[in-house]
Amino acid sequence: MVNHYTKTLPPTNSGVNQAVSLLKQGQLVAFPTETVYGLGADATNDAAVANIFSAKNRPQINPLIIHVANLSIAQKYVTFSNTAFRLAYAFWPGPVTLVLPSRLDSPLSSQVSAGLKTVAIRVPSNELAQQLLADFGGAVAAPSANLSGTISPTVASHVLSGLNNKIAAVLDGGACPVGLESTIIGFEPKAVLLRPGGMPVEIIEKCLGYPMGAYSATNRPSAPGQLLSHYAPNANLRLNAIDRVQGELTLGFGPGDYDLNLSLTGELTEAAANLFCYLRKLDSQKPDSIAVSPIPEHGLGRAINDRLKRAAAPRGQALPDVDDSNNGSTPSV
Ligand code: TXA
Ligand code: MG
Repeated sequence: MVNHYTKTLPPTNSGVNQAVSLLKQGQLVAFPTETVYGLGADATNDAAVANIFSAKNRPQINPLIIHVANLSIAQKYVTFSNTAFRLAYAFWPGPVTLVLPSRLDSPLSSQVSAGLKTVAIRVPSNELAQQLLADFGGAVAAPSANLSGTISPTVASHVLSGLNNKIAAVLDGGACPVGLESTIIGFEPKAVLLRPGGMPVEIIEKCLGYPMGAYSATNRPSAPGQLLSHYAPNANLRLNAIDRVQGELTLGFGPGDYDLNLSLTGELTEAAANLFCYLRKLDSQKPDSIAVSPIPEHGLGRAINDRLKRAAAPRGQALPDVDDSNNGSTPSV
């Protein structure tokens, strides 16, 4: 792909330095995290944050996650309850996002939280992201670096396929090892699961010592626009498929003969890392439909099934979630 404007920065000190100075100038820079690539902007810069929404074609009612280098920087922006501290000590840096009350003196652009009194915050573990955030020093707002409604990017070329010429740069850190977005947890005041993701719910519940609230609409924050789902791929998805219909491509899990296999040995970690990339690969062959083998509903399987259900839902169908595939008003791209 010819890249006229969006620079691809190498995973070196110089690449990170350039990324940091672009962010400080209010530019948009995509960067790798352990989950997926994020589309970063200085979270205190109104114009830069507004540009995230326009580059992604994301409805402004859908709030963003801010990324910081560590827990002590996080405390400049949000207040932690004891439970929130416990989760932060246990899981940061790592694929867990906490939705916490915004501090009254918060310097964040109000668009970050789309008018809510809470802010979603996380500390990513990817080394380049860590270096970028430490050098930047503050908060980087970053949703997944895809056009709203499309599959999240797990390599730099996926970022460019949606956002080339719309952003200043992408820091190329290779493939994201987890491959699914972070697990999002809210507090009411007990911890509730807002989005299953890269940290299995069972592990978080072990740390909490109690089961999190059911994954239901009543537990969701009252942000508008979170109910309708549309999620490319262009092909239809047929889930829990145990056979193949003519015109379909197959995405397997476990031993068997498939066009692509998420994990031949049936490992959920491997399947999660491959999921978005393989969906893109199969979709690029323009099949009528993609048949996906059953995935067990435990550990990372829960998050994999969540994303698959969303991808399979007819456009416009109600699926409760907080993901940006659920903006309810913008046509899928
Ligand atoms: O792994 C991830 O979480 C990736 C990487 C880049 O960090 N980011 C990501 O961001 O998945 P995004 O914007 O695609 O999904 C974040 C979701 C949003 O859909 C939004 O609804 C929810 O987090 N969110 C953000 N702020 C919130 C808040 N204050 N209350 C409830 N939900 C919130
Ligand atoms: Mg997203």
